[in-house]
Amino acid sequence: MFNPSHSRARRSLKMLWVLVMLLGIRTEALAPGIKAEITLKGLDYGKEVGMEFLNSALLKLSIPDLKGSYSIPLVGPVEWAMTGFQVKALNLGESLIAFVPNSGLKLSMGPAEAEVDGHWSVVASLIRDSGTLSLNVRDVTLAVQVGVHWNGAGRLVVSSEGCSSHIGRLEVTFHGGASWLYNIFFEVLEDLIRKQLNSKLCESIGNAVQTLERTLQTIPESRHISPLADLNCSLVAAPLIMEQSIELDFKGEFYSPASHKEFPVPPAPFSLWKQNDHMLLLGVSDFVANSAAFVYYQAGALSRTFNDSQIPKWFPIRLNTKNFKNFVPELQKRFPNTTMALKIFARLPPRLQSQSGALKVVLPGALQAFVLPKGNSAVPVFLLDMDTEASGQVFASGKNIGASLKLTNFSLTLAHSDVGPFQVDKLEMLMNVALKLVILPKINRKLKNGFPLPTLPKASLQDMVINIEEGFLAIATDVHYGA
Ligand SMILES: *[C@@H]1O[C@H](CO)[C@@H](O)[C@H](O)[C@H]1NC(C)=O
Ligand SMILES: *[C@@H]1O[C@H](CO)[C@@H](O)[C@H](O)[C@H]1NC(C)=O
Ligand SMILES: *[C@@H]1O[C@H](CO)[C@@H](O)[C@H](O)[C@H]1NC(C)=O
Ligand SMILES: *[C@@H]1O[C@H](CO)[C@@H](O)[C@H](O)[C@H]1NC(C)=O
Repeated sequence: MFNPSHSRARRSLKMLWVLVMLLGIRTEALAPGIKAEITLKGLDYGKEVGMEFLNSALLKLSIPDLKGSYSIPLVGPVEWAMTGFQVKALNLGESLIAFVPNSGLKLSMGPAEAEVDGHWSVVASLIRDSGTLSLNVRDVTLAVQVGVHWNGAGRLVVSSEGCSSHIGRLEVTFHGGASWLYNIFFEVLEDLIRKQLNSKLCESIGNAVQTLERTLQTIPESRHISPLADLNCSLVAAPLIMEQSIELDFKGEFYSPASHKEFPVPPAPFSLWKQNDHMLLLGVSDFVANSAAFVYYQAGALSRTFNDSQIPKWFPIRLNTKNFKNFVPELQKRFPNTTMALKIFARLPPRLQSQSGALKVVLPGALQAFVLPKGNSAVPVFLLDMDTEASGQVFASGKNIGASLKLTNFSLTLAHSDVGPFQVDKLEMLMNVALKLVILPKINRKLKNGFPLPTLPKASLQDMVINIEEGFLAIATDVHYGA
C-alpha cells in the first residue's frame, strides 16, 4: 500500500545522503595554507603582456615556403614557388579574455590583418620568371578555449579545449616579370593558402598550450628554502574559476626534507575578500609560519649557546659566577670566580597568531646556565623558563614585505636549580630592559627591509597592500612585467 509518510522519509533520507556527499567532498579537500587569486584586472594585464608577445613573435615568424605545380592551357605544367615570406605589418585588432566558470579561459581576437611580402618564381618548359609578391590577409578572427584543471595530485593542468579561426579576405598581388599572367591564376592559390593558414593558426595555438602545459609540469612541487626546510607548494584542490577570478589553493606547508613529518595541526579554512582593485590577491595562513617554526624546532635549530665573548662589552652582566652573586647567591659560593655559559632554546615551537590588525608571536623559551670550571666539562646549574610575547606589524617595504615587533610580555620562572632556590625578578627586569632596548631594535632593523615575495623572472610587484586578518595575512598587489 502507498504510504506517503514512508515516501517522505525516503525522500528526506535521499536529501540527507546528497548533503553528506556534498559535505564529504568539501571536507575531503585539504584546507590550503596559501591561497592565490588572479582577478579580472590581473587577467586583463596578462592578456596585454601576452598580446605584445604575440605581436613581436608574429613579426619575427618564419613562414614556410609554398611550392606546387599547376597546368596552364597553352603553357603546360608550371612549377611555382613562393618563398622568403616576411610579415611587414600586423594589426591584431581587439582581443578579449574571460574566465569560463568551472572550466578555464576563453580568448577571442580579431578582426586582425597582416601584410606579408615575399618572392615568387615560376618555372615551365620555356619560361623562367620571378618577382616579388605581397600577401594581404584581412578579417582574421580567432576564438580559443583553454581548460584549466587539477590533476588531483598537486598540479594544475592546462589543455586546449577548442579553437576556431576564420580568414575573411586574402589577396596576393604579384609584381615584376610577367606578373599580369600570374595574377590571373592566383584564384587557385587562394584556397590553398587559406586552408594552410587556417589549420596553422589553431595548430600553433595548440602547440603554445602544450608548451605551457609542459612548463607547468616542470615546476617543482616543493621549494627548497634552507638545508632544514622545504615548502610544499602542491595544489590541494581544483582551481575555483568564477566570472571574476580564479582561485588556487596551495598546501603551503614547511617540512623537513629529512623526516617528512607532517605538522600536527591542520590549517584552518579561510577566505580571501573579493575585490578587483589589484591583479593578484594572496592569503598566507598562520599555518605556514607555524609549520616552519615546527620544522626548525624539531630539527633542534632554535637553540644557541653563549659564552662571555659573545655578550656585548657594555652589557652589565658578565658570564662569570661573581657577577651573579646578587641574583643567585649560592652560585658564587659553590663556584667562586668561574666562567659561565648560557644555552637559550625553544622549549616548545614558537607560535604565530594573526588577529585583526596585529600578529601575536609567542616564544616559549628556556635558559639553561652552566659553569665551566677550569679543566672540567660544563656543569648545569639552573634552568629558567623564559616566555616572550611580542606583537607584530607587517607592511609593504617597497617590493618587499617588512615587519616590526614590539615586546608585550616577558616572564622568567625558575624551572630547576642545582644551586638552591632563588628569586628571578631582578634577573627578569634586567633581561626585559635588554630585550626592549637592545635585542628587539636590532631584530627590527633587519625586519624593516623585509623579504621579497617569490615572483616570476622579470616580474615585479607594485602597489602592494598588506592586511592582517583573523588567521591569515592578506596581500593584494599589482604585477608589472618587464625588464
Ligand atoms: C605535499 O602535499 C601533498 C598533499 O598533502 C602530498 O600529497 C605530497 O606528498 C606532499 N609532497 C611532499 C614532497 O611532501
Ligand atoms: C665561546 O664561543 C665561541 C663560539 O661558539 C668559541 O669559538 C669560543 O672558543 C668560546 N669561548 C670560550 C671561552 O669557551
Ligand atoms: C678571577 O679569575 C681570574 C682568572 O681566572 C683572575 O685573574 C682573577 O684575579 C680572579 N678574581 C678574583 C676576585 O678572584
Ligand atoms: C605575561 O605572562 C605571564 C606568564 O605567562 C602571565 O601570567 C601574564 O598574565 C602575562 N601578562 C600579560 C599582560 O599578558
